[in-house]
Amino acid sequence: MTLEELREKSGKTLQDLDACAPEEILRLFEGVRELLEQDARQLATGPASSGGQDAARDEELRERWLSRKRGLLTLINEHWLKAAPKPLKPVAGVSFNKLHARACEIFPDNVAVAAGRKAKASSLPDLTLPGLRRPLGSLHPITQVQREIEEIFINLGFSVERGPEIESVYYNFDALNIPESHPSRDDWDTLYIDAQTVLRTHTSPVQVRALEKYGAPLYIIIPGKCYRRDNPDSTHSPMFHQIEGLAVGPNVTFADLKGTLDFFARRFFGEKTRTSFHPSFFPFTEPSGEVAISCPFCDGGGCRVCKHSGWIEVMGCGMVHPEVLRHGGVDPEQYSGWAFGLGVDRYAMMKFGIDDIQLFFQSDVRFLGQF
Ligand code: PHE
Repeated sequence: MTLEELREKSGKTLQDLDACAPEEILRLFEGVRELLEQDARQLATGPASSGGQDAARDEELRERWLSRKRGLLTLINEHWLKAAPKPLKPVAGVSFNKLHARACEIFPDNVAVAAGRKAKASSLPDLTLPGLRRPLGSLHPITQVQREIEEIFINLGFSVERGPEIESVYYNFDALNIPESHPSRDDWDTLYIDAQTVLRTHTSPVQVRALEKYGAPLYIIIPGKCYRRDNPDSTHSPMFHQIEGLAVGPNVTFADLKGTLDFFARRFFGEKTRTSFHPSFFPFTEPSGEVAISCPFCDGGGCRVCKHSGWIEVMGCGMVHPEVLRHGGVDPEQYSGWAFGLGVDRYAMMKFGIDDIQLFFQSDVRFLGQF
């Protein structure tokens, strides 16, 4: 029997084929079995060696026998077995089952295998597709502004120093002349880890650490994260960023402080910027001041950003308190110094025109991707 003959016969019933005795039925199935084994020998060997073409050929052979609608075995089941007269059913059934089992062995097929075959065929790379573009990251806006400020002071001869975010009560408060009774020590304002350890509330503790480490003269800026027990809103975040400046040397004066900060303000906010110093108080500077700049948005004319005052406060500063120099191991009779502290997040908000500090810390790429 040839394949063509079988194809024709599979569409007919056993009666049509004149196979009315068990021996004839067995012979018929024997002929089918031979054709099946012929196809089995045509199968490509081993999945590793089979390229796309072989896989397609194997698939074709499997379909020929087991296709759910037009497979030879489906047709045989339909026309020979189901339509067989009752007395011939057992012999036809047994023969069919054997044949079917053998076909399944030759063409292992279940959903997983079929899916695997399909996946394999479609996973062949399509070389005509465009390449995958890897999205490029960028520096966080806070980091950008921090670096811009660092750059201005580095060009003035300052170097960058860092200190721990988990800080001792000594460096965060005592060494800075902040008395036990100071409200900032209250655990409503400060995040305590234990009685002696806090999350630093400002970058000023690094003043004393650096003086101990390097002595005077010393010209440094100190960028870093700080923490306060603030509820998050559009202008407050329990974690924020400061940059501290410290200049200690022989004969360092308040005039140096004013000159340096005026230069810095013009560099950062634009050459037209004017600075204004107001008396203030910090336990670690004496005298202390607040620096305001003429509003870069309205040139001092008054707008929403400067709350119609024409001025924006941008940092605290002052002459380093002799007590602080002493804690750093520096003799206040020999050296004097100034310091300032500014909030980087506010500078970034001004620079980029952002009115909600929270946006910086939500890691939303749609926001961050704009800078
Ligand atoms: N540490 C002060 C603050 O966090 C800022 C400051 C630094 C003031 C240095 C004066 C000198 O508010």
